[in-house]
Amino acid sequence: MALLSSLHGSQVTLLSVLLLCWAGVCGGIPDPRQRELLIQQEASRQTGGTVVLTEAERRLSAQLHKLKQREMEEPQFPPAIHFFKALPLIQRSPVFRLLQKMPKGAALHIHDFAVVGVEWLVKNVTYRPHCYICFTASQSVRFRFSAKQPHPLPQCSAWVLLETLRGKVDNTTDLDNSLMQNLTLFTDDPVNAYPSQDIVWRRFEETFMAALGLVTHAPVFKDYFYEGLQQFYMDNVMYLELRALLPMTYELDESRHDRAWSLKAYQDVARQFVTEHPDFLGARVIFTAHRGLNLTEAKAIVEEAMQLQKRFPEVMAGFHLVGREDGGRPLWYFREALSLPAELGVTLPYFFHAGETALMSEGHPMVVSSDDPATFGATGLSYDFYEAFVGLGGMNAHLGTLKELAINSIRYSSLSPELKDKALALWQRKWDKFISENSQ
Ligand SMILES: *[C@@H]1O[C@H](CO)[C@@H](O)[C@H](O)[C@H]1NC(C)=O
Ligand SMILES: *[C@@H]1O[C@H](CO)[C@@H](O)[C@H](O)[C@H]1NC(C)=O
Ligand SMILES: *[C@@H]1O[C@H](CO)[C@@H](O)[C@H](O)[C@H]1NC(C)=O
Ligand SMILES: *[C@@H]1O[C@H](CO)[C@@H](O)[C@H](O)[C@H]1NC(C)=O
Repeated sequence: MALLSSLHGSQVTLLSVLLLCWAGVCGGIPDPRQRELLIQQEASRQTGGTVVLTEAERRLSAQLHKLKQREMEEPQFPPAIHFFKALPLIQRSPVFRLLQKMPKGAALHIHDFAVVGVEWLVKNVTYRPHCYICFTASQSVRFRFSAKQPHPLPQCSAWVLLETLRGKVDNTTDLDNSLMQNLTLFTDDPVNAYPSQDIVWRRFEETFMAALGLVTHAPVFKDYFYEGLQQFYMDNVMYLELRALLPMTYELDESRHDRAWSLKAYQDVARQFVTEHPDFLGARVIFTAHRGLNLTEAKAIVEEAMQLQKRFPEVMAGFHLVGREDGGRPLWYFREALSLPAELGVTLPYFFHAGETALMSEGHPMVVSSDDPATFGATGLSYDFYEAFVGLGGMNAHLGTLKELAINSIRYSSLSPELKDKALALWQRKWDKFISENSQ
């Protein structure tokens, strides 16, 4: 965020200097007032640069500034080290604790099966009855809930009931920890564990495959989403946009449900959560397909997306393609499929990552999101705010930056104008409370 702002800022500076030269002040001694003006211009271009703070907000901003300064002087500065090594340091950081309490608005970019911290999957879901496990040749695991012995999977050992396995091992804590390891990328030695992009992507896909058998069991699917909303709610996030593959879900007797079932489940769970937590705004789903599809498959899935959008306009926000961007097919390859809705006069909003791996735009509004928190051993959104605020933003980022990021997350969501107004009003009330409770 601030990285882009400062790129932008330096261009502004360059332009201003050229203008000054043109005005004839270049040859003489620079005018200190012009310098001051430039510095102000640059600051106003940063995210939050034009936000006007109240007296109480300025006090809190000054406090934050001091806390951040102290953190920067520590021998180990968390944003400068690998996130996995930084995690325990961040958890102890007073800046982080404050960010946890801060109403952060919405999380607009979250993937369906990395929403919930993996501890819940292992400690809650794998302890449910009828949970089978098998071990793959690539040191990973697969899970399956079934009333009877499931059919064997290729490349995997025979299925074992986890309950039986837990009864046999000496130390179930060790077993549970190894299961958690299978579900995240987290490791004490990331540099050696993941020497290349290829290796880390492969492991990332393994974590996803390991989680799949757990989260696509129909009852777990609903509980998982509820727990995800709960974790984001606890982290003071009030609205979620979930990028969801909507895979088929299954029951203990191996019967299966289609995509519409999954979408309806999300809608029902979100509604239930809002009923129980009236200060939460809900969630919408961006249906995602994988970039590995060929054109024929992509056309079929875009057609399905149009039908789902028509049936579930409240919960479905639009369509998106996932998968490793630089190795996968470009959007251009899918153009015939992606232009289907326009040809049919159907509205299907798109939410693509375009150039995410080489984001070089300027002046675009920024939001912070956590993408796959569980994969990185994190939860919610505060870790990402911490990295953005302390690392990218540096000493120039202030409370106005945070305020603008939170407001942006609502302003640039897929909510209708009426719901955005409602969300902003709700957010403002939470914000005012946060300020009055935390500014001294
Ligand atoms: C199981 O292992 C963990 C560490 O891996 C250890 O802390 C714990 O005491 C062990 N439990 C038993 C019952 O041996
Ligand atoms: C996954 O879990 C299995 C079983 O406990 C373990 O042998 C394996 O090392 C784990 N894999 C990873 C990548 O942690
Ligand atoms: C597991 O999660 C469900 C809700 O998803 C909850 O009702 C239940 O109490 C949890 N069980 C344990 C053992 O934590
Ligand atoms: C696309 O993939 C499907 C199966 O996944 C295959 O049957 C079909 O031939 C493929 N189409 C093309 C054009 O490659």
